[in-house]
Amino acid sequence: MEIRKVETDKKRYLDLLLLADEQEDMVDRYLERGTMYVLEDGGVKAECVVTDEGDGILELKNIAVAPDFQGRGYGKAMVAFLVRTYTEQYTVLQVGTGDSPSTIPFYESCGFRRHHLVKNFFTDHYDHPIYECGVQLVDMVYLQREL
Ligand SMILES: CC(C)(COP(=O)(O)OP(=O)(O)OC[C@H]1O[C@@H](n2cnc3c(N)ncnc32)[C@H](O)[C@@H]1OP(=O)(O)O)[C@@H](O)C(=O)NCCC(=O)NCCS
Repeated sequence: MEIRKVETDKKRYLDLLLLADEQEDMVDRYLERGTMYVLEDGGVKAECVVTDEGDGILELKNIAVAPDFQGRGYGKAMVAFLVRTYTEQYTVLQVGTGDSPSTIPFYESCGFRRHHLVKNFFTDHYDHPIYECGVQLVDMVYLQREL
């Protein structure tokens, strides 16, 4: 397994990016300024994008594992890589996500804890309702873990 930085043509992984964030113009808000990594294990199995949010905060803006390879530890390996790589440079790793049973337990198992909410983020910023596990996402839940 190898995790490497993607310097150019990040949109070649658009299918994976859209798995985590289904509206492309929302991905465009952070993709270029973000640092992107892909995890290769006999082909690209996962990607993530992180951004510098100032005040020692690194934000995980997008993380996705290819559908056929979810639940095999790739997501957790990606988070562990970020923790190892950025522990000296930042104090907090933060992630914002919908209040969904498909993502919050994953982050909690990676050591994140709920920190704050941004009310109505999904209804204010996306041009269509976003559903996960049959529930419409409304507020953005921020979770943090120390680095
Ligand atoms: C969410 C996602 C990144 C997790 O990656 P993954 O490789 O499938 O997860 P892992 O196999 O590394 O799982 C790590 C832990 O999280 C738990 N977990 C993962 N997905 C879960 C789910 N849907 N419900 C409950 N627990 C879950 C696992 O049980 C595991 O727990 P353990 O370490 O205690 O055994 C991946 O499923 C995915 O790409 N989903 C679609 C895109 C997405 O929703 N991205 C996040 C947007 S904010």
